[in-house]
Amino acid sequence: MRTAPTSSDAAGDRRACQVLDAADPLGCFRDRFDLPPGLVYLDGNSLGALPRATAARLADVVEREWGRDLITSWNRHGWIDLPTRVGDKIARLIGAAPGEVVIADSTSVNLFKLLDAALALAPERPIVLSDTGNFPTDLYIAQGVVGARGDGRALKLVDETALIEAIDAATAVVMATQVNYRSGRLHDLAAVTAAAHRAGALMLWDLSHSVGALPIDLDGVDADLAVGCGYKYLNGGPGAPAFLFVAQRHQERIRPRLSGWMGHAAPFAFDLDYRPAAGIARNLCGTPSVLGLAALEVGVDLMLEADLAQVRAKSMALGERFVALVEARCPGTFALASPRDPSARGSQLCLRHPEGYAIVQALIAHGVIADFRAPDILRFGFAPLYVRHVDVWDAVDRLVEVMRTRAWDAPEFQTRATVT
Ligand SMILES: Cc1ncc(COP(=O)(O)O)c(C=O)c1O
Repeated sequence: MRTAPTSSDAAGDRRACQVLDAADPLGCFRDRFDLPPGLVYLDGNSLGALPRATAARLADVVEREWGRDLITSWNRHGWIDLPTRVGDKIARLIGAAPGEVVIADSTSVNLFKLLDAALALAPERPIVLSDTGNFPTDLYIAQGVVGARGDGRALKLVDETALIEAIDAATAVVMATQVNYRSGRLHDLAAVTAAAHRAGALMLWDLSHSVGALPIDLDGVDADLAVGCGYKYLNGGPGAPAFLFVAQRHQERIRPRLSGWMGHAAPFAFDLDYRPAAGIARNLCGTPSVLGLAALEVGVDLMLEADLAQVRAKSMALGERFVALVEARCPGTFALASPRDPSARGSQLCLRHPEGYAIVQALIAHGVIADFRAPDILRFGFAPLYVRHVDVWDAVDRLVEVMRTRAWDAPEFQTRATVT
């Protein structure tokens, strides 16, 4: 068993972190975010931090565009083009071509739209295949889609490690989330997509925990369909609108079930009958959320300034440092719930402890924000644009303190809040 380092080793570690931060090619990004001083924020995998430019941009949209120019802003300030404009920007982060991504609705709603459309493209195949590591909303939506279709389709769930082997001639759609929200385990985007295609199935990816955290090459792996969140690593703000991707080759074959006027070929012709717009725009439904899109665009623009290979390298280094420090300084206290190999996980690290909820609450009280996922997972996200090596050191230092003093064992940390 390893022994805890002496305090001078630990102090040396912290200085080493500061040296690494000083040489970090992404170091300049931290100041572009408005983070409270002294706080260590390790929850950007759930809600990204606030870019400094967002408040001014939103004030401008509210006061000038909405306040003064009112409805003329749909044309004058290009509000109507926001879903495709920001979509084209996100396309650059996920290896998609211009015109393959649009911003609309929430991730859940986009999943509904694309899964339903995918099933319509494969009428002879009964199965939607997913895994038990998928995010619950994805599974609930799939249950809703097969129920609403009422055409004998069923959702089949397998363990995430058995997903590829479970794909067969009955599979209409494979639906998976690239990074497991609980463990951070990474599916192999290319291998799962290729396996789906070999069996003649379509592949629908949820990129919520991967967009902005690692390089993604949707067109390179020949992906069919994808969705993802705007409020995690893209820093688009709470409830930011989501994105959806449809490969060029499928776009004209999709007949949207949510056939709203914004996806009509000529919304302002006010025809009585629905005719889908050409291309990706048919996947829009109702009026876009302009304030949400304006905030999201700021976050996406910032992300586009970063080199995603550097983002990935730093994310892996932060995670490795976190594991090494936890194992050295809290030996035997936590079980690792994430893959040990950094290339096999996304940008988060998860630990298991029966008192996980209370420990996370105590950590928050000690100035480290992480989160908890039932039944026993402490989740730490490393958003490489603003998390520094020294933050990882400080987070573990405070974790050591919380465990040493049993600070978590206080009544105020035991009662579960609605959001964990
Ligand atoms: C993988 C994944 N998909 C979807 C969602 C949420 O979707 P929505 O924005 O519709 O609530 C989350 C939320 O954390 C998620 O982790």
